[in-house]
Amino acid sequence: MSSSPSSSGSDRDLSSRNTLAVFPGSFDPVTVGHIDLIERSSEVFDKVIVAVACNQEKTPLFTVAERIEMIDSIFADNPRIEVETFQGLLIDYLIKRDAHVIIRGLRAVSDFEYEFQMALMNRKLAPGIETFFMTSSALYTYVSSRIVKELASLGGDVSDLVHPLVEKKIKAKYDR
Ligand code: PNS
Repeated sequence: MSSSPSSSGSDRDLSSRNTLAVFPGSFDPVTVGHIDLIERSSEVFDKVIVAVACNQEKTPLFTVAERIEMIDSIFADNPRIEVETFQGLLIDYLIKRDAHVIIRGLRAVSDFEYEFQMALMNRKLAPGIETFFMTSSALYTYVSSRIVKELASLGGDVSDLVHPLVEKKIKAKYDR
């Protein structure tokens, strides 16, 4: 099929590009829901950068370096997945990496309003960058980093919600 200029007016050459996608988030900590989405997105895009946001929360459980280390270890065998941190606007990070795709996961309707607002704001800031939404697997719709932290801080079992490596690190944090 021959490529022709797209109706959106984009002048990017679609025939030869490798699609680099950015999966941004706080990942404090990364959950089984994130892992599922990141793995699935690496089946769709040529390369996925997991971009760990810096300075999002004043008192995170894990430092950015710890979050990156955990995500790196989990995806060590997947050459399509890279992990980095970014500071400031997500859009500026994508421009710096010459990436045009943001991937965000949607768990439930409650996620939609915030995600929609963020996607629209990002599109306003950089019209050439698209946000792609992926639905989380039904099994993980209730899993969030916040729930994991709350449960763990109260002595609950989080083994179904995080990778064993992350579970160990969480236990060490809450070991009193
Ligand atoms: O895992 P999270 O906390 O839902 O991730 C949110 C994140 C980090 C993707 C979002 O807050 C973000 O992109 N922050 C960087 C600042 C920015 O670009 N905000 C959106 C436009 S104002």
